[in-house]
Amino acid sequence: MALAAAAAVLAALGGALWLAASRFVGLRAQRLHGSRDPSHMHGKTVLITGANSGLGRATAAELLRLGARVIMGCRDRARAEEAARQLRRELLGTGAAEPDARGVGELVVRELDLASLRSVRAFCHELLQEEPRLDVLINNAGIFQCPYMKTEDGFEMQFGVNHLGHFLLTNLLLGLLKSSAPSRIVVVSSKLYKYGDINFDDLNSEQSYNKSFCYSRSKLANILFTRELAHRLEGTNVTVNVLHPGIVRTNLGRYIHIPLLAKPLFNLVSWAFFKTPLEGAQTSIYLASSPEVEGVSGKYFGDCKEEELLPKAMDESVARKLWDISEVMVGILK
Ligand SMILES: NC(=O)c1ccc[n+]([C@@H]2O[C@H](COP(=O)([O-])OP(=O)(O)OC[C@H]3O[C@@H](n4cnc5c(N)ncnc54)[C@H](OP(=O)(O)O)[C@@H]3O)[C@@H](O)[C@H]2O)c1
Repeated sequence: MALAAAAAVLAALGGALWLAASRFVGLRAQRLHGSRDPSHMHGKTVLITGANSGLGRATAAELLRLGARVIMGCRDRARAEEAARQLRRELLGTGAAEPDARGVGELVVRELDLASLRSVRAFCHELLQEEPRLDVLINNAGIFQCPYMKTEDGFEMQFGVNHLGHFLLTNLLLGLLKSSAPSRIVVVSSKLYKYGDINFDDLNSEQSYNKSFCYSRSKLANILFTRELAHRLEGTNVTVNVLHPGIVRTNLGRYIHIPLLAKPLFNLVSWAFFKTPLEGAQTSIYLASSPEVEGVSGKYFGDCKEEELLPKAMDESVARKLWDISEVMVGILK
């Protein structure tokens, strides 16, 4: 009995030490990336969708720190303004809105609801009138395993926001990206793409809805979109790459119900095993800003390294068909 109790205490101590060590490695990773050239992104304009929360917010903070002018494309102006206030406080130590002598960039909030083609068009119209250049577009916003819902235009919500909204956004901004070349597009996908398929006969999931499948389908669509776009952009000096960030502690799981009693355990596990938003954002930041990926296009990255894709994510005929259908769905067929 005493032996069993001692073994349990030892196991608990070992577990605690292991957790602390894994957090230490995480903190080290954060510090490592704190050493980037602080003025690296000066003069560059970066648009990040969903920049008020999680990965988008962490990406915005770092690119701002590197001197970029960051446009936060967010659906809720109040949440976005609050995030912007916090970011300015964290980076400047004051409530100042403008770039300061320490070389921190400028932060701009603009309303963008990817679940509304009208909103995407209005956002792009305004941006094209007011911004002389766009150096980096980061398609980051996303919605995960929500109950069956439709966008304003009648698309299944996850496919509509994660793929179609960004598809229209990117297409409407391509001219500005080309005239600002060399420029970059970064697409945030997920490893869960592996469990999706592009079922062309039911893209709006009207025949059946499975929230996990639909998330995976939308993330597969992100990769197919990237690869097709890379072909279309050959010779333009505009690159496009796609990434998976790993499992990150953000607000993405807002629709996942965790029983009250299991919450402490979930929190402990996520604290120990999930990446922080800053750790998770490293590949987005790398693809947006690193000279190492100058000219690289159509590739899939994780942890700042190129990774292999499953054949279904490299199927060129599916990618072309998805592109053609997406053009019809968002109404940009020429
Ligand atoms: N966290 C992970 O483990 C993980 C893993 C793989 C991939 N990803 C991908 O990473 C990306 C960022 O997610 P996150 O983890 O940072 O989650 P998050 O904290 O929930 O952030 C998602 C962002 O997307 C925005 N968004 C949602 N619907 C939108 C819409 N209709 N129009 C405009 N913006 C909208 C959210 O705005 P509100 O705050 O207003 O809701 C929020 O700013 C997503 O594409 C996700 O699929 C995340």
